[in-house]
Amino acid sequence: LRQKYLDAIAGAADEASLEDLRVQAVGKKGEISLKMRELGRMTPEERQVAGPALNALKDEINSALAARKAALGDAALEERLRSEWLDVTLPGRPRRAGTIHPVSQVMEEVTAIFADMGFAVAEGPQIESDWYNFDALNIPPEHPARQEHDTFFMHRAEGDDRPPHVLRTHTSPVQIRALQKQGAPIRVIAPGRVYRMDMDQTHTPMFHQVEGLAIGRDISMANLKWVLEEFCRAYFEVDEVELRFRASHFPFTEPSAEVDIRCSWEGGSLKLGEGDDWMEILGSGMVHPKVLAAAGVDPDQWQGFAFGLGIDRIAMLKYGIPDLRAFFDSDLRWLRHYGFSA
Ligand code: PHE
Repeated sequence: LRQKYLDAIAGAADEASLEDLRVQAVGKKGEISLKMRELGRMTPEERQVAGPALNALKDEINSALAARKAALGDAALEERLRSEWLDVTLPGRPRRAGTIHPVSQVMEEVTAIFADMGFAVAEGPQIESDWYNFDALNIPPEHPARQEHDTFFMHRAEGDDRPPHVLRTHTSPVQIRALQKQGAPIRVIAPGRVYRMDMDQTHTPMFHQVEGLAIGRDISMANLKWVLEEFCRAYFEVDEVELRFRASHFPFTEPSAEVDIRCSWEGGSLKLGEGDDWMEILGSGMVHPKVLAAAGVDPDQWQGFAFGLGIDRIAMLKYGIPDLRAFFDSDLRWLRHYGFSA
């Protein structure tokens, strides 16, 4: 009996079978417990021999059970330690965080600077009717400026009688939408994407502009000049920037000026100031009376300026990036090189 249980206990594989053995041997109706009950029917002499022997057996079985139980517990712990082992000295696996694209970043900065000067943000669609993109801006259908814009036209199926639409070639149609909605006086900017069929070092078929529009009783070209200079000082974080106002022509402004900023392209790199090069950053002028009228504003009562600033160009200048096309290649190595991505 003794050997039977000791062997079984030593061979028990888990705590459940150990418990079964305990019940079989020393449980209430266990084999050894039953034998102890028989002691009562024995003669005192028999009992004196059998009693201590059974008690010793019971103790031995109980301590064998306890020892085996402890051993199984140790083994289980050992196994967990082996399988759940963690080397806290291994280097971590780095995770790359996404970042804001430089152009989006610049758009936010530009918006914040103009907000400080009292300009609210206006919006318009990127797929625009040719009335808003051209006609309302004093560019009638046969006007040569329509060709100069290298426009992407939306396809219309035969029988489609909706007005013709284009991918907007500039943010200027938002001038019309904002004036129609709010009227004068008004001070808004309109940042967004624009499209032209054009591609070289400073042109991509999709690029970004921010339109500015300020209409009041006596807003002048002098106000325009101050706003643009103040903007450049804030944006480039310098005390003085050199801007060049060049007489120009836009159908929707009179007079018109294009504005260049002094920079250097020496050695394939681009730097603000310090050089004899100029980069065009915007077109501007006094809003044409016909444009005000087309938007429902009385040109005898109101006047003001508008400008269209090339966001990508001023992003190139701020970060010294000589080729605009790289902005839209989505090459992470490039973004990382310029510190735009982790
Ligand atoms: N819309 C013009 C362009 O894209 C820029 C401009 C805006 C000029 C407002 C004058 C006034 O070239």
